Amino acid sequence: MTTPVTKVVIPAAGLGTRFLPATKAMPKEMLPVVDKPAIQYVVEEAVDAGLVDVLVVTGRNKHALANHFDRVTELEQALELKGDGHRLKMVHASTGLAEMHYVRQGDPKGLGHAVLRAKMHVGHQPFAVMLGDDLIDARDTLLTKMLEVQEHKQASIIALMEVGPSQAHLYGIASVENTDETDVVHITGLVEKPEPGTQPSNYAIIGRYVLMPEVFDVLENTAPGKGGEIQLTDALATLVAQPDLAGGVYGVIFRGRRYDTGDRLDYIKAIIRLASDREDLGPDLRPWIKEFAEGL
Ligand code: G1P
Repeated sequence: MTTPVTKVVIPAAGLGTRFLPATKAMPKEMLPVVDKPAIQYVVEEAVDAGLVDVLVVTGRNKHALANHFDRVTELEQALELKGDGHRLKMVHASTGLAEMHYVRQGDPKGLGHAVLRAKMHVGHQPFAVMLGDDLIDARDTLLTKMLEVQEHKQASIIALMEVGPSQAHLYGIASVENTDETDVVHITGLVEKPEPGTQPSNYAIIGRYVLMPEVFDVLENTAPGKGGEIQLTDALATLVAQPDLAGGVYGVIFRGRRYDTGDRLDYIKAIIRLASDREDLGPDLRPWIKEFAEGL
C-alpha cells in the first residue's frame, strides 16, 4: 500500500548573511517579493500541490515568520472599519492558507540537520522538502509532477535544473541516467557543491524534494560534509548507493521559471519579472522598464 504525501518541511533557520543588513533582525524568508514575503509563495506552492500540513524549521529571530501566518485581529478590524475589503482579503490569505507548525533547529548544523528536526512531526511517511530561497513560478508546476513520480516509483525524488559550468559549484550536482519517461532520470551519484571544474554533470539540485522517511535514519548517521555541515545531499547519496533501503533516488528535470531569492541579483530580477506580469502593476511598470533600459 502506498502512503500519500501530506506533509511538507520548509527549512528556514538560515542566517541570511547574503542580505545583511536587511536580515540583521528579520528572517530572510520575510523579505518581500513584490508585496508578499518569500515564504508565502512557497507555502502557496505547497497548498497548490495539495500539501496543507506545513512544518517550518526555524531559528533565532524568526518570530515575524510565525506571526505572518497568524491572525491579527486589530489589523482586520481596522481594515473592516475603513471598508478596505481588498486588503482584508490579502491579510486573510496568509492566515487560512495551511496548517502551520513550527520547530526550532536549535543548533544550526546544516540543511540535513534541519530536515532531521522534522522526524517526529513527519513520522513514517514520504514527505516534501521545499527550500525558501527557491521560488518556482506558479505557472510552471513542478511539485505536482514530483508527487506523481514519487507515488509511481516509491522512491525519493529531487528536482533538477541544468546550470552552466560556472554555476555548478553553488549546488548539489547529480549524475543521471535516462528512464523511459521524458524529464525523469535515475540518479546514480550526488555530490554537494563540487570544486569548480569537477562537476559530474550540469544537473543541479534545486530546492524541491519528495523524500522517503528512511532518509531520517540515514541523516542520523551522516557525518558533517561540505562546510562542516550535515548535508542533505550526502544523505541522499547514501540512498542512491543503497537502493534496497528505500527505492533509490530519481530526478525530475525542471525547465520552467525559477527565481533564486537567496541571491541579491536574482532577487531583484524576480521582483521585476513578477511585478511586470501582474495586472495591477505591469501596465505601468513595463513601459517604465523600457524607458529605463533605453537610458542605460
Ligand atoms: C542547498 C543544497 C544544495 C542545493 C541548493 C538549491 O544549498 O545544499 O544541494 O543545490 O540548496 O538551492 P544552499 O543554497 O542552501 O547553500
